[in-house]
Amino acid sequence: MTGEETDSRIDKAALRKALHGRIIGSRLLYFLTLTSTNDHGRELAEDGWPEGTVVLSEEQTAGKGRAGRSWHSPPGLGLYVSIILKPSLAPEKVPLMTLMTAVATARALRDGGNDAVLKWPNDILLGGRKVGGILADARIRPGGPADVVVGLGLNVNHRQEDWPADLLERAGSLRMNAGRTFDRTEILARILIRVDEAYAAARGGNAGSDAALIDDFLSYCPMARGRQVTVIGDGDPIAGESAGLSPAGALRVVTADGVREIHVGEISVAETGDAARG
Ligand code: BTN
Repeated sequence: MTGEETDSRIDKAALRKALHGRIIGSRLLYFLTLTSTNDHGRELAEDGWPEGTVVLSEEQTAGKGRAGRSWHSPPGLGLYVSIILKPSLAPEKVPLMTLMTAVATARALRDGGNDAVLKWPNDILLGGRKVGGILADARIRPGGPADVVVGLGLNVNHRQEDWPADLLERAGSLRMNAGRTFDRTEILARILIRVDEAYAAARGGNAGSDAALIDDFLSYCPMARGRQVTVIGDGDPIAGESAGLSPAGALRVVTADGVREIHVGEISVAETGDAARG
């Protein structure tokens, strides 16, 4: 695919073929429009659909982002996908599924020559702009595996003029970064294959696999170590130097009062050198 052309729709048959025999994509549900693939994935999880079920929509009319924000989800330009996971993880380790999806996505983008970096916990950046995000919705069931609907939004073929004014400054896409369009089916297949591999390694949740996942995440996430960060959460902002992740995937920040473990919050990174890239 070249020039100004963008692909019209995702090629379901090609995607099914690429995912044949894998857990991720063992069920593949494709929609032209949904309010939110995460909401539909949650309904399916409640109805007992198996792990690996993938819900994919060409557009979302009420796509959800973190912290109650919306996710801009126009047809034909991005990828909007949710996956049902049922990992055997202790409840406090369930956030590792967000990191796992982020690592798999970064890896798939790098496989395709896109120099993606991660920003803890769930942002995917290219050229300093946010091109993707992950939103996980977990239910912990006493005595059973958690079920987690992990949703990924990726901006693929958006041009500068495709963004609403409030996103113009921060949002990017693969196309804006590389100066060419991308085949969304190919990108999605690469990502889901990488998620399948990463999930197979992480779903059992032992100390070794958790540590390997965290190491992988850190290798894609320069802001998680040695950067001046400010965390905006429920209480007062927390400022300090990032110092890696806890075994459960929390961000460690060394502050004047000691080391804090941050489980949720918006992080701003001091804009010095390449720190601004994530
Ligand atoms: C973020 O704010 O960074 C997370 C964005 C997550 C967006 C994706 S798009 C597919 C899935 N369905 C949703 O409603 N949200 C997620």
